[in-house]
Amino acid sequence: METSKSVFPENFLWGGATAANQLEGGFQEGGKGLNLADVLPGGKIRKTLRTDPNFDYTIDKSTYTYPNHEGIDFYHRYKEDIALFAEMGFKTYRMSIMWSRIFPNGDELEPNEEGLKFYDDVLDELLKYNIEPVVTLSHYEMPLHLIKEYGGWRSREVITFFERYARTIFERYKDKVRYWLTFNEINSGLRIPMYGLGFNIVKEEDKYQPTFQAFHHQFLASAIAVKLGHEIIPNSQIGCMILYAPVYAFDCKPENVMFALEEKRLFNYFCGDVHVFGEYPRFINRYFQEHNIKLDIQDGDLEILKQGKVDFISLSYYMSRTEEINNKGKGEGNMISGVKNPYLQASDWGWEIDPIGLRISLNELYDRYRLPLFIVENGLGAYDEVEEDGSIQDDYRINYLREHIKAMGEAIQDGVEMIGYTSWGCIDLVSASTGEMSKRYGFIYVDKHDDGSGTLERKRKKSFYWYKDVIATNGEKL
Ligand code: BG6
Repeated sequence: METSKSVFPENFLWGGATAANQLEGGFQEGGKGLNLADVLPGGKIRKTLRTDPNFDYTIDKSTYTYPNHEGIDFYHRYKEDIALFAEMGFKTYRMSIMWSRIFPNGDELEPNEEGLKFYDDVLDELLKYNIEPVVTLSHYEMPLHLIKEYGGWRSREVITFFERYARTIFERYKDKVRYWLTFNEINSGLRIPMYGLGFNIVKEEDKYQPTFQAFHHQFLASAIAVKLGHEIIPNSQIGCMILYAPVYAFDCKPENVMFALEEKRLFNYFCGDVHVFGEYPRFINRYFQEHNIKLDIQDGDLEILKQGKVDFISLSYYMSRTEEINNKGKGEGNMISGVKNPYLQASDWGWEIDPIGLRISLNELYDRYRLPLFIVENGLGAYDEVEEDGSIQDDYRINYLREHIKAMGEAIQDGVEMIGYTSWGCIDLVSASTGEMSKRYGFIYVDKHDDGSGTLERKRKKSFYWYKDVIATNGEKL
């Protein structure tokens, strides 16, 4: 066991993070409508289908399994799970509200009371233990009706539906929730439009115009939500959420350095710039011209962006990426893309493990935006074994988290302002990219398997006790 002097602020928010669609289950309960996650099959086939232009968003149980339908049954077991979070000493819990529980089709005028009541109960349970909720409004689960009938965020009308949803949520939970995030990993729409933007790309060369028009709609929706949230909940803190992966040039060849810079600006900064500065960055003009993108920006839109600037930036961090100009976007080296970094090891899923990359990321973000940062996802997806005595010895996870928390501590000493840290999938849940249960992130093991079998029993892993100590000592004991 290593010890070091704590560098974390006194009220640092330690905790864990989940997303409604990956753990709740109850997919046809409480008046909920169908959403994107309900039609995504389990297993590696998900990776193919999510970019398949012919994917028809229907449920075909004769061919596929649908792990999100049951999730880990948080819908019925949230009290037990929150009690375990409290036992670890969580100061905060990042969760999301499922849009399709509140507005089952997305375009109704009135919300579904049963859905609202469910989150009242979950939030009350958290507050009972003094756990500060951090709520994401939209985490990869747009109501299916909006995808099928409106084409997802390509449609400007969806802004109105989102505004109604956000207003409903803010008014209902205004006394319970202070920290809010608008769209999960908003920049991921550049890679997987289905998840974040709610539509498929038919031909690669045709992707630019619809993708960026959809982003424009989402930026407006996010800004409207920020403004509304500030009006309805005066002490609220509302952030954007960026999937951040620092981009390294493969070597010092200037062409590679320039390419890495372009990738960094587009993927890491484009969305953040609009949220923080309330305007499009100048560098995007050239990109728009070169890809023949002409945004339909209506009167008043730019004003809305200005009025909805975020209070902080939240990020997920799993890996860095290394780019080389001739490799353009082929994604051979890492999950995100780029070439293999010879200095890094990768997880069983090919995600390159790079704690120093986290320190770099935090410094880059803080240097650019000068806003407090909140790490709302970080963790290691790994296979876990239950030993004969029932224990789970996940030292690999502890090592991963320890190194990343240390890197965050270094960044704080570099001068970066940090609000908190919520490790991803604090309880095992369904993987977003592959729909697997065997890709586990949790401190809490859930007896559920890829084939759908399992008792759903919860068990504390070795990392559970380790993280409890980390929190109790405010990061002094790592
Ligand atoms: C992030 C998402 O991309 O990474 C989460 O916000 C997701 O929803 C997490 O679960 C880890 O990815 P995966 O594919 O291992 O579940």
